[in-house]
Amino acid sequence: MKLIVYRNEREASAATAEALASAIVRHPAMVLGLPTGRTPLPLYARLAELREQRHFDASRVTTFNLDEFWRLPASHPGSYRAYMERHVFSRLAIAAGQVGFLDGMAPDAETECLQYERAIRAAGGLDVLILGIGTNGHIGFNEPGASLRARTHLAALKPQTRRANAVFFEGDASKVPGQALCMGMGTILGARRIILMAFGRGKSKAIQGMVQGPVTTRLPASFLQLHADVDVVLDEGAAERLAASQAG
Ligand code: GLP
Repeated sequence: MKLIVYRNEREASAATAEALASAIVRHPAMVLGLPTGRTPLPLYARLAELREQRHFDASRVTTFNLDEFWRLPASHPGSYRAYMERHVFSRLAIAAGQVGFLDGMAPDAETECLQYERAIRAAGGLDVLILGIGTNGHIGFNEPGASLRARTHLAALKPQTRRANAVFFEGDASKVPGQALCMGMGTILGARRIILMAFGRGKSKAIQGMVQGPVTTRLPASFLQLHADVDVVLDEGAAERLAASQAG
C-alpha cells in the first residue's frame, strides 16, 4: 500500500482529480469503478471543473458503481444513481450507455448481481477503482463480520452504516434502506489499480487497522493489503494514528 498524506481534503482531492484526468487522457476508453458518499465529492467537483476546462474528455470512459440501495428506485434522491447523475455523469458528460449500475429495483437480486459481474468482465475489468471507507472499515457495503462475500451480492447494512448514510435521507437513519447490492471483495480486488480516499479523524481508526492490522473479515478494508497496486490518499486527520515510519 502506498500512503499519500496531504494537508487537507481539498489538496488530496485536487491531486487525485489531476492524476485521474491524466490517466483518462492516456487511456480515453478507461473503465472506472466509482464510489458514492461524502468523501469523493470534492474529487468529483474538481474532475468536473477539469472536464469543463477541456483538460480531458470522458466521453469514452465506462463506469461501474460500487453499490446501490436495494428496493430504492433510481429516481429517489437518496439513491446512489441519483447522486452519480448529479455529481458525475451529467458533469463529465458520460453517456447512459457507458454507465454500469446495479439496479436496486431488479426483480431478482441474484440475477442482477451475476449480470453485473458479467458486465464488468465484458468491459475488460476495472482499470481504476476509487474507494472510500466506512468508520468500521467497510468497503462499499462489505461490512465487518465472520465472513465476506467474494462476488457482487445483496448485503445487510449495519446500524452504524445506516446512520452514516442518513445525510442522504433527510438526516433520518430509519429512512436508509437496510439492504444494498454491492461488489464483493473479490470483485474489488480484481481491479487493476485501487485508490482509497479517507478524510478526517473519524476515519483514522479504520485506516490504522487497514494499513497496520492483520487481514481480517472484522475489518474488510484490510483485504486491500493483498492487492499490489493500492494508493491510500489521506488528510492529516485520517493519518493521525499511523506510525510515523509508515506515513509520508
Ligand atoms: C457508504 C458507502 C461506501 C462509502 C462509505 C463512507 O456506506 N456505501 O461506499 O465509502 O459509506 O462514506 P463517506 O465517504 O460518506 O464517509
